[in-house]
Amino acid sequence: MKTLFVGQNSIHIESVDSTNSYASEMLRQIALPEGSVVYTFNQQKGRGQRGSSWESEPNMNVALSLVLYPKFLASDKQFLLTKTASLAVADLMSEILDGRHKNYRVKIKWPNDIYVNERKIAGILIENTLRESLIQNSVIGIGLNVNQVEFGSSIKAVSLAELTGKEFSLMQVQERLLEFLEARYLQLKANKLETLDNAYLERLYRKGVWAEYISSGQTFEGKITGVSSTGKLRMELTNSEVREFDMREIVFT
Ligand code: BTN
Repeated sequence: MKTLFVGQNSIHIESVDSTNSYASEMLRQIALPEGSVVYTFNQQKGRGQRGSSWESEPNMNVALSLVLYPKFLASDKQFLLTKTASLAVADLMSEILDGRHKNYRVKIKWPNDIYVNERKIAGILIENTLRESLIQNSVIGIGLNVNQVEFGSSIKAVSLAELTGKEFSLMQVQERLLEFLEARYLQLKANKLETLDNAYLERLYRKGVWAEYISSGQTFEGKITGVSSTGKLRMELTNSEVREFDMREIVFT
């Protein structure tokens, strides 16, 4: 592994309900070194955002949780971890996909879904433990569709194999992902916030494009202009009003 600390302590579990739950439980019992990674190729009950589930066929995909101690971040700066993690996944997708097909666009759908064109290839679930308004520890869970090609209920899902017609080594994809995670986390630690903010905005799905959304049961047209420092989605409405939405307040149609 070409990393300083991310993935240097790596805990492989044959099969587990959720790597995030497992890592969090471990953290309650012992002090894992920063950069520890819990991973499995057989996750039974993966958890997603907003209480949803994350499905994955055995031995097909990457599912890992990275443990970080971003004690330098105040709790109102949690969204910086979202930017860090989603950029790392997008970096990896770009590295693999760019040049293969000129029409593949790797985007981050706010707040942290990774999309290739109109389909989701990876999801992220970040669970932070706060203490005295600082982030004590962070469990960054990433699920990445690699070799699975059938997604049953979720027609909007896609994988690397489906996009490229090729099978990938899960271990190699995972190791490269950890390298990108470390690189982006080092940028965060070095306070390179402008770099992270600009890269995130550049990747933001539907930025600057008029599209339909739903909020409080109402369908409306809006144009994403960016995100606030706390991670709210900033949008311009057709009457030129600017509004900010949190995760529970808006649905992409
Ligand atoms: C989402 O898109 O809603 C987030 C999905 C996150 C899935 C990953 S897989 C590894 C880690 N363990 C979990 O239980 N969830 C995350």
